[in-house]
Amino acid sequence: MCKAGDFERCDYRTEWKMGYKVLSNVEKLKNSIFKMNSWLLIMRAIVTALVWASAVQLIGIWLIRGPRVFKVWPPCNQLDLHVASELPKLPIPVFPPKRVYKNNGYLMVSCNGGLNQMRAAICDMVAIARYLNVTLIVPELDKNSFWAASEFQDIFDVNHFIRSLRDEVRILKKLPPKLNKRAVYSLPPVSWSNISYYIHQILPLVRKYKVVHLNKTDARVANNGLPLEIQKLRCRVNFHGLRFTSQIEETGRKLVRILREKGPFLVLHLRYEMDMLAFSGCSHGCTNDEVEELNTMRYANPLWKEKDIDSEMKRVEGLCPLTPEETALVLVALGIDHNVQIYIAAGDIYGGDRRMEGLKAAFPNVVRKETLLEPSELRFFPNHSSQMAALDYLVSLESDIFVPTYDGNMAKVVEGHRRFLGFKKTILLDRRLLIGLIDQFTSGSLSWDEFSSIVKEAHADRMGSPKKRVSIVDKPKEEDYFYSNPHECLQLLDKPLRTT
Ligand SMILES: *[C@@H]1O[C@H](CO)[C@@H](O)[C@H](O)[C@H]1NC(C)=O
Ligand SMILES: *[C@@H]1O[C@H](CO)[C@@H](O)[C@H](O)[C@H]1NC(C)=O
Ligand SMILES: *[C@@H]1O[C@H](CO)[C@@H](O)[C@H](O)[C@H]1NC(C)=O
Ligand SMILES: *[C@@H]1O[C@H](CO)[C@@H](O)[C@H](O)[C@H]1NC(C)=O
Repeated sequence: MCKAGDFERCDYRTEWKMGYKVLSNVEKLKNSIFKMNSWLLIMRAIVTALVWASAVQLIGIWLIRGPRVFKVWPPCNQLDLHVASELPKLPIPVFPPKRVYKNNGYLMVSCNGGLNQMRAAICDMVAIARYLNVTLIVPELDKNSFWAASEFQDIFDVNHFIRSLRDEVRILKKLPPKLNKRAVYSLPPVSWSNISYYIHQILPLVRKYKVVHLNKTDARVANNGLPLEIQKLRCRVNFHGLRFTSQIEETGRKLVRILREKGPFLVLHLRYEMDMLAFSGCSHGCTNDEVEELNTMRYANPLWKEKDIDSEMKRVEGLCPLTPEETALVLVALGIDHNVQIYIAAGDIYGGDRRMEGLKAAFPNVVRKETLLEPSELRFFPNHSSQMAALDYLVSLESDIFVPTYDGNMAKVVEGHRRFLGFKKTILLDRRLLIGLIDQFTSGSLSWDEFSSIVKEAHADRMGSPKKRVSIVDKPKEEDYFYSNPHECLQLLDKPLRTT
């Protein structure tokens, strides 16, 4: 597929052919989902090919005039160059000298949530510990959460974490034994707090009790309004201090190598898993038995407070993960090459093969870690959803295109990390708009070419390119998440890559 403003250099006939090829897949897809007259499809095929070709031109023009970021997109002929290249080997780290400071006490933290929520929280807590001049004990990961059940050292390289940050903060694996018997003061910090909260509310507790245990960590630090050095430290922990264990890193590199050998790949974070659907109450396209199963699971989980959910209403508001069928339509509408490898970064897709039919008809090269690796290569990671999520995280970082179907923590943290890696293309789907368009298209009130061009147009500036994070005073929930766009830490494209 041609990209990056070099459309003159791309073979136009290939583009045309691809327009048809893509379209024939649209047809397959639609046959598996909707019934339609075939002559109408042929008419649409012709019109679509025309629209497609002119859309390519338009996009080309837009790219030339557009922001500099697109120069970092691999143009069509460079995509192949990628194939030969390997993931860069991790540099042999030279650890900085320790920072010497007067220790105010000890901070213990218990992270809650899934892997990526905890990842962000770890970065926050390092920054807090640094600015309170305390000693941080290696964070404890959530063992009760539905989403994770591992120790820090099962996921992250704990020695690298400690040593690579030692010029900022002292981190210990365990509380010193002499402190073990003391009463530890536990509390959940107030959500979205700024540094003055930690200085004025938490530090006096640390001074008084010597050991303070922050027992919840999700979104406890504000997105905005923090000193620049704190924002940069959050990034430094995220992009340099946190490294997965060598076993996870090696397996991740192997997955990427296998994918690269076969050409470009798109990572689809298809968040269509049972837990997500049960939790969110989204059941569009499910059978009655499945709806019942999902509801039973939701009512049984005391942590999921919202019980009575109107699935259709939620879907129309754009609050549901896209279904595999909806996703397939959108990817085809966006003009994604049907030959591209699509790596599914997710656990089991709810409904299994039945729900994946349409996507596989449109994109035959659907793969996942279980199909790329031997079972023996994943044997180190049995039943450890966090380690599986870590593998998917690594593959997601490296992909040519990343498409999340829901804006959960993985989607957001990977989006931010890809921005850091040079504004790699992340397609941020506007689900609310898409659901409306999909419903119009499937009911026949919108033609394929109208549907496709609106989808393309609506996402032209939702590709993870440089922009300022949206900040809304007093409405932290509605702001852009710091970790999805840590713009303070992103190098301008005409400057060399920043290393810290
Ligand atoms: C932390 O230590 C630095 C010196 O290393 C000092 O300037 C700063 O005031 C200290 N902050 C607190 C909260 O103790
Ligand atoms: C956190 O600590 C507070 C105060 O000790 C306690 O009430 C609360 O239940 C604890 N929360 C968790 C998640 O452990
Ligand atoms: C920090 O938060 C407190 C309480 O929410 C607020 O009153 C204060 O103005 C904030 N400080 C800064 C520097 O944003
Ligand atoms: C993984 O979990 C499943 C179901 O929870 C269980 O049946 C299986 O024995 C577990 N496997 C391992 C290796 O722990």
